[in-house]
Order: sequence, then C-alpha cells, then structure tokens
Amino acid sequence: MKQLIDKLQETCVLAPEEYRVLIDQHRDAGLAEYLFAKARTVKMQNYGHDVYLRGLIEFTNYCKNDCYYCGIRKSNGKAERYRLSKKQILDCCAAGYALGYRTFVLQGGEDGYFTDKKIIEIIQSIKKNHPDCALTLSIGEKSYETYQAFYEAGADRYLLRHETADAEHYGRLHPAVMSLKNRKQCLYDLKEIGYQVGCGVMVGSPFQTTEALVEDLLLIKELNPHMVGIGPFIPHHETPFADQESGTLELTLFLLGLIRLMLPSVLLPATTALGTIHPQGRELGILAGANVVMPNLSPVEVRNKYLLYDNKICTGDEAAECRSCLQKRMESIGCQLPVSRGDHRSMV
Ligand code: 5AD
Ligand code: FES
Repeated sequence: MKQLIDKLQETCVLAPEEYRVLIDQHRDAGLAEYLFAKARTVKMQNYGHDVYLRGLIEFTNYCKNDCYYCGIRKSNGKAERYRLSKKQILDCCAAGYALGYRTFVLQGGEDGYFTDKKIIEIIQSIKKNHPDCALTLSIGEKSYETYQAFYEAGADRYLLRHETADAEHYGRLHPAVMSLKNRKQCLYDLKEIGYQVGCGVMVGSPFQTTEALVEDLLLIKELNPHMVGIGPFIPHHETPFADQESGTLELTLFLLGLIRLMLPSVLLPATTALGTIHPQGRELGILAGANVVMPNLSPVEVRNKYLLYDNKICTGDEAAECRSCLQKRMESIGCQLPVSRGDHRSMV
C-alpha cells in the first residue's frame, strides 16, 4: 500500500484498480498518516506554510433545483428564504477587505431573480471597489454565453461541484431534470472560457460506492481543475436524505491526501462541512493536504438561513470572529493566512 502512495507521489496518477484498493484501506491509521505526510510535503513545496482565505458570501437561498441532499432545495417549504441586496453584498466585501480578505466567493442557489444583468452589475461593482481582489462565483449551471459574459464582467473563478462522476449515482442524488452530462459540459465550458475552475464531491453521500469515488478521481485528473471542493455529506432533516448517515472524517481526509498527490498545486479547501463533523476538522484537513479555508462573510442575520445541512458551524458568529478564530486555528498547526488573492500557482 505504501508503495502505491510512493508511486502516486512520483507519477501523480494511478490505475483505477490501484485507487480502489487504496480507498478501501482508508481506515488504516498508519497508511493514512503515511499519505498525509507526503501530501503535506507536496503542499509545502508548492505553497509553503500559507493557507489561503476566501470570504464566502451566501447571497440567496432561493433555488429552483430539488437536489435530494440539500437543505435549500425548492421542496423544503420550511426554509426561510432570503436574498441579499447589491448594497448588502458590497458591504460584506468592504468588511471582508478590511479584515484582509482578497478573494470573495459569491455563492447561492439557482435563483432566477438574479438575472445575468443583475449578476453582471454585482461583479462589476465588486471589481470596481476592489480591483486587487479575486472574485469566485458558485451559482450553478448556466449557458456558455452566460459564463462568458460573467467572465468578461470580471469574474475570475467558478466553483461547480460535479457531486459524483457516476451517472447512475448522479441520478439517485438529483431529479431527472439534472444530468451529469450537462454538469460536466459546464465544467469544460468554464475551463475553456478561462476561469480558474473548481469541481468536487460530497464524501459519503447516500449510495456512494468505492467505484463511484474512483470515477471521481479519474474525472478530477482528466479535468485537471485549479480547485477541488470536497467535504463530508451531512444530512438535513427536511430532505429525503434526513435519515442517512454522514460521511466520515477518515475518508474525507484520505481523499484530500490523494487529491493533493494527484494535483500537487491544486487549491484544496478544508471545508465548513469538515469543521462541522469534527471540532478540529478543518485543521485536520490542512494537515492532510488542504491549503484553503473559506470562512463565512455573510451578514449574521441570514447565516442561520443558508443551511445546506444540519448543525452547520459559524451560523451565529460575526465575520471578524470567524477571521480571528481561523487565524488562531491555523497558527496552532504552524500555518499562516497571508493577505493575498491566493491564485493557483499556474496563474502567478
Ligand atoms: N451535506 C454536505 N454538503 C452539501 N452540499 C449540499 N448539500 C449538502 C449536504 N447535505 C454541498 C454540495 C454543493 C455545495 C455548495 O454544498 O456539494 O455543491
Ligand atoms: Fe467561524 Fe471559527 S471560523 S467561528
């Protein structure tokens, strides 16, 4: 097993069968630590002790989709819906800038209220106020033309998790109107346009098999994204998956380590979901190979409404609290949070 990890570090790729055996061994603590030590070395070679900050602004929890896992799915009649105004979004960015953020992530449900025109105005205003900042969008599936227009307006990066690379599994997580084919097309379109692109999955989502995870790794390698967002699945009580088990810390960390070796310079967040299933989840994620954290910058009044899953952390904290909390957490493991856009190494 250790030889497979050595091979992955040397060649950045394994055969499907080799990924499968490794994934099935993820609970072997000795092997996991062997992987994490290599992943940390590779991360150090690329990014040193730096962990990059992204300020997450959750600007709408309206969504036209009905993903079975997600707490803001349209069928959740109990979700209290909200939208931030352009002014509220710009105020979040200004507060974040003062706290040292140089990347803002605009994330929301697929909300028809925010037409392309409105989004373009928001992008242009943010980039006008903060020309030294990077702007990431995470607002779902759009047409090539729309992605192009957002890019021309100034958006730099786009996050669109593929959720699973197995078409059958995809169909068990989403209603039939959504398809893996379209999801992948969006990711390739975004890359072609010139965005720094992020894909990713939930670890331990219902019906996920080792084979599906191997497919995920193969797709990640093929797409060669700048960012990969992975975190554990956590049930939300008002969804069809209310009674399903959460994904585990062990498997999530193991996959972070594998992805670091596959894509040495990838931007890899230790996610809020990871911090939700374990009090030190984000620190452990960094120690397994991650190099990004994405604290919440949304106004406190709306934080307890953007609930994709149960027990989400930081829903009562101010932006400044999350900023200093993470600083302490990262310093406790020997890392620092530079005031920087934190671009992928290929872009600087
Ligand atoms: N548990 C964990 N992650 C979730 N997401 C959505 N619902 C859940 C859940 N119940 C993730 C999806 C989505 C991202 C924004 O949040 O992967 O792409
Ligand atoms: Fe929000 Fe720790 S990151 S309080």
